[in-house]
Amino acid sequence: MTAMPITVRRATQADAGAFARIMGDPRVLANLMQLPYTNEEVWRDRLAEMLAPGKPDLMLVAERQAGGQPPQVVGSAGLHPCGPALRRRHAMQMGISVDADAQGQGVGTALMQALCDWCDGWGQVLRLELTVFVDNLRAIALYERFGFQKEGLHRGYALRDGQYIDVLSMARLHPSPPRIGGGPAS
Ligand SMILES: CC(C)(COP(=O)(O)OP(=O)(O)OC[C@H]1O[C@@H](n2cnc3c(N)ncnc32)[C@H](O)[C@@H]1OP(=O)(O)O)[C@@H](O)C(=O)NCCC(=O)NCCS
Repeated sequence: MTAMPITVRRATQADAGAFARIMGDPRVLANLMQLPYTNEEVWRDRLAEMLAPGKPDLMLVAERQAGGQPPQVVGSAGLHPCGPALRRRHAMQMGISVDADAQGQGVGTALMQALCDWCDGWGQVLRLELTVFVDNLRAIALYERFGFQKEGLHRGYALRDGQYIDVLSMARLHPSPPRIGGGPAS
């Protein structure tokens, strides 16, 4: 069977239902910092805030289209500032999630590629940060494929279904930071 092509585009508020469906699924939720009982309205408000003009956040969605069907959102990735500190403007943090039934089919890879390309070529991002639960081996492997390195362990970092779980900090530095007058990026 031929794999369905994956398209990545910027999210809109109309995607709120897809965000709620994907991140509300217990198979996805457990690996995120989200809470149960999310819904479309919660995501509509969040997206409205993050997509407001002038905000540095980037929200992407991945879509696939089966023959004759409308495109379906199967994953999302977000890029957010690490805080207001002027001296941390080169750093951003990211999150990613893929529909539980679409995992292991290249959707996460497509979203990571788009996010890293944005950071490297357009977004003025020299340091991309994230946290990941220590037992989320698939996500850790995906991040390592994109050049992230483990930087540290936070013990008992977050409550997950009644247990405090450790997370790893990981970061990816720009592989070839742009310079003024340095010629085209290689
Ligand atoms: C972690 C996560 C984002 C990865 O996304 P994904 O779509 O499953 O990732 P990919 O399919 O691109 O890559 C994962 C695997 O599929 C394989 N793969 C990549 N492209 C493929 C393709 N075209 N066809 C089939 N398999 C493919 C990869 O080799 C990889 O193999 P693995 O089983 O050794 O890991 C996703 O599993 C997820 O959303 N998990 C729940 C939420 C979460 O953990 N978010 C991260 C929080 S830090």
